[in-house]
Amino acid sequence: MKRTKIIDILKSNELNKEICAKGWVKTRRGNNYVTFIALNDGSTIHNLQIVVDMNRFDESLIRRATTGASMSVTGKLTPSQGSGQNVELAAESIEILGDCNPDEYPLQPKKHSLEFLREIAHLRFRTNLFGAITRIRHAMIFSIHDFFTSKGFVNIHTPIITASDAEGAGEMFQVTTLSMDNPPRTEDKKIDYSEDFFGKATNLTVSGQLEGELAAMAMSDIYTFGPTFRAENSNTSRHLAEFWMIEPEMAFYDLNDNMDLAEEFLKHLIRYALDNCMDDLKFLSQRLTDEEKNKKADERSMELIEKLRFVSDNEFVRLTYTEAIEILRDSKPNKKGQFKYPVTGYGSDLQSEHERYLVEKHFKKPVILTDYPKEIKAFYMKMNEDNKTVRAMDVLFPQIGEIIGGSQREENYDKLVARMKEMNIPKEDMWWYLDTRRFGSVPHSGFGLGFERLLLFVTGMGNIRDVIPFPRTPKNAEF
Ligand code: 4AD
Ligand code: MG
Repeated sequence: MKRTKIIDILKSNELNKEICAKGWVKTRRGNNYVTFIALNDGSTIHNLQIVVDMNRFDESLIRRATTGASMSVTGKLTPSQGSGQNVELAAESIEILGDCNPDEYPLQPKKHSLEFLREIAHLRFRTNLFGAITRIRHAMIFSIHDFFTSKGFVNIHTPIITASDAEGAGEMFQVTTLSMDNPPRTEDKKIDYSEDFFGKATNLTVSGQLEGELAAMAMSDIYTFGPTFRAENSNTSRHLAEFWMIEPEMAFYDLNDNMDLAEEFLKHLIRYALDNCMDDLKFLSQRLTDEEKNKKADERSMELIEKLRFVSDNEFVRLTYTEAIEILRDSKPNKKGQFKYPVTGYGSDLQSEHERYLVEKHFKKPVILTDYPKEIKAFYMKMNEDNKTVRAMDVLFPQIGEIIGGSQREENYDKLVARMKEMNIPKEDMWWYLDTRRFGSVPHSGFGLGFERLLLFVTGMGNIRDVIPFPRTPKNAEF
C-alpha cells in the first residue's frame, strides 16, 4: 500500500479510510488491552497516534516498537478520543522495519541538553527541536529563492575554490594537492605554488561577491547562495568556519536602494516563516518560554512569535557609524565601564556588545549602520566625499548583532586602484575585477546575509551550532 505522510494524514478528514503510515517511534505507552504509539516521519512536528488493540497483535511484535524503532502501519483513520489530535490510526497490520536497541539508543523520550545533542548530531534530527529547525531552514531557503525570483534576480553559482581573498581579512582555508611533508620550493625557499594543482595558491572562498559583481555588470540583478569558509579562530555562539551566505548584487543601486532591499528581504523571510512554519514556531516559542520561566519578568526576552511580528512590522532605524559612536560613547554602560571594549570615539571597531546595546537597549529595533571608517572595512567599498568613510552598511538584529554586511561598491577605476594600493592588494591578481571598472562601469551595490544568523533569529536558538545540521567550528569536524 502507498504510504501517506503524517502531515497529510493529520490534515485528512477522510475517516474510516485505509491508509499506511511509516516513521520512527517517539513513545509507546499502554496496558494489556491497548497500546498507543506516537509515530513521526519528519513531515511535521506533530506525531500520529497509532492505537493498537492488543487482542489483535502478538505482544512480542509490539514490544519491538521502542523509541527510535522504525515501522510501517496500515489501518483505518478514526476520530481521536484523546486530546491533542483530531485523528488517530487504528492499526490493522504492523511491520517493524528496523529495531532500535533501547539500551544503546542515546535519545530517550526526555529533554537532552543541546551540548549532548551536538555530540550525537547524526541522530539529533530525530528530536522535535531539530525537526522544527530543519523544516524552518528549508522554508527559509525556499523563501529566499522565491523572493529574488519574484523580483527578477538571477541566481549565480560562484566558485568555491578561489585565488582571491574578497574580504581581505586573510582568514582562508588553503586548498592544495602539494605534499605537506615535502612541498616543492622556489630558489628563495618559498613554496612553489606554480606546481600546485591550479598553478597558483588557492583557498576556499570567504564570499562570492567579487564574481557576483561580474555577473551583475551584465544581468543587472543577481544573487548567490553558497557555502563560505572562514578560518577565523572565534569560538563564539555566532561564528562558524563553514556557513552559508546569500549575496545579492545590483547594478544601478546606491546605498539607499541597497538598504531598502535588505530591509524588505529580511521582513519577507520573517513573514514567510510566520505564514508557513507556525506549528514549528509555536514549539520553539514554548521551549524558550519554559527555559525562561525561572527568570525575573524584566529579564525575559520577548516571546518568539511576538518578536518576529515586531521586526517584520516595524521600520528599521538607520544612522551613521559616527552617530552610533556618539550614542555609545555617552551610554551608561560605557561610562560605567561595563563594556569589555570601551568606546573612545571615532575609529573604534564595533563589537557585538555595542551592536546589541544599540539594538536591544537604545533603539529597541533593528538598526542599519552606514558610513563606517574606511580603515575597518573592505577595499571595494565606495569612498564618501569626506575621504574618511565608506558607503558601508551593517544590519544589526536583537540577540544576533550583525546579520547583514554590505555596501555600495567603488565603481571608479582610479579610486579603486588607489584603495587597493593603500591596502596592499596586488592589482595584477585582480585584473578581471578591475576590468568591470574599465568596460561600462556603473554604480552598484550588494550585501551578504549570513544564513545561519538569520536562522538564529527566526528560531530563537542561542547557538549557531544548532541551526546547521553539521557545524564546522575550531577543533570540530565530526560527522
Ligand atoms: O560582513 P561580511 O564579511 O560581508 C561579506 O562577506 C560581503 N562580501 C558581503 C557582500 O557585500 N556581498 O559577511 C556577511 C554576513 C555577516 O553579516 C554575517 O551575517 C555572516 O555573513 N557571517 C558569518 N556567519 C557565520 N559565521 C561566520 N564566521 C560569519 N562571518 C560572517
Ligand atoms: Mg561584516
